[in-house]
Amino acid sequence: MRLLLTHIHELYQTETVHRRTRVAGAEMAEMPKLHNAWLLIENGLIHSFGDMASMPEMHADETIDACGRLVLPAWCDSHTHLVFAAPREQEFEYRIKGMSYEEIARKGGGILNSARRLNETSEEALYDSAYERLLEVMAQGTGAIEIKSGYGLTTESELKMLRVIRKLKENAPVPVKASFLAAHAYPLEYKNDHEAYIKLIIEEMLPRVAGEGLADYMDAFCEEGFFSVADTDRLLEAGWKHGLKPKIHANQLHYSGGVQVGVKHNAVSVDHLECVGEAEIECLRNSNTIPTLLPGAAFFLGIQYQPARKIIDAGLPVCLATDYNPGTCPSGNVPLLLTMACTQLKMTPEEAVHAVTLNGAAAMELQNELGTIAVGKKANLILTKKMNSLAYIPYDFGNNPVHKMILNGVLY
Ligand code: NIG
Ligand code: FE
Repeated sequence: MRLLLTHIHELYQTETVHRRTRVAGAEMAEMPKLHNAWLLIENGLIHSFGDMASMPEMHADETIDACGRLVLPAWCDSHTHLVFAAPREQEFEYRIKGMSYEEIARKGGGILNSARRLNETSEEALYDSAYERLLEVMAQGTGAIEIKSGYGLTTESELKMLRVIRKLKENAPVPVKASFLAAHAYPLEYKNDHEAYIKLIIEEMLPRVAGEGLADYMDAFCEEGFFSVADTDRLLEAGWKHGLKPKIHANQLHYSGGVQVGVKHNAVSVDHLECVGEAEIECLRNSNTIPTLLPGAAFFLGIQYQPARKIIDAGLPVCLATDYNPGTCPSGNVPLLLTMACTQLKMTPEEAVHAVTLNGAAAMELQNELGTIAVGKKANLILTKKMNSLAYIPYDFGNNPVHKMILNGVLY
């Protein structure tokens, strides 16, 4: 099956010889592109591309005139909690009236609220609602996604969530990665016995999760009032023993030491990062760990934004992800995330798009198959509505830039 796109107004993030695995620092602002281009997809993969002026004769089963449209790699959303049982708009109202996220959590709301609801919900119902959300974000440009457990908090419910994610992996037309996040909050019955819950995770849950091959990554919410640095240290070490690389929640509400413990364990990414100073930047500089920013959660909680400029200007890569979850960011809308990145984090459109394509792919270890337009990569692409340039996507805020999605070379 060969699909040919011709007269593409701008084809973004093209790579010919030099293949990058992530983009960092000043490089993030420079996005390679071709003007008036063609692109040939064969059997789901990018076969070749080039200038219209020198397009060779070729056969295709279907040809699309992309005149006036952009083509770019689909978004790689590397941090979501897409599987959940119910929304939490009541807590949203509490926060408007002045309660903080932590206060709500201490009263048994927040993550524990979601866990209660998830325990009462069947695997089938969870799957159906998650699949619907997945279709929704795919229509907004998402072409790969990471999904966490963490609303189970019991062995059976954590396994239930991870099985839902596995079923999404099997059935969705986009790559799905799974993270094991039992260390999301202490269940009420372990409120005064943290040790017992850590033991439950390490000795009972992890062997079953790993045994069934249900997770790719080990996650933990390293934060004051949640999992301490010492807890996280033990959990990540145990994860590694079962072949799960770390990918953690860090430095959302405090300078907690989360970045340092993540880097110590060679985390694929440390995510959130509202609280990042010189020590965190220095630590990241000497690592392969990708700093992942989740401005949607900062926006929705009304807390400070992540210092993206400081991180990029220090020569580091920045990844952006939605954090789609019912508590702190009930939206998986990447185009809107791009607007926040530009207006609030002061990232340029090119930096923001790099952050949620190649760097998003890297934060899921998918950089060799996704994230740029390169020969042999998977053809998960966005064909935009008619527009002139990349900047129009974050500029046209609240609107969907997608005309058609191409996933595995198939038009949606
Ligand atoms: O990434 N910060 C921790 N976990 C989620 C929120 C979970 C929730 O409130 O349901 C987050 O923001
Ligand atoms: Fe999260």
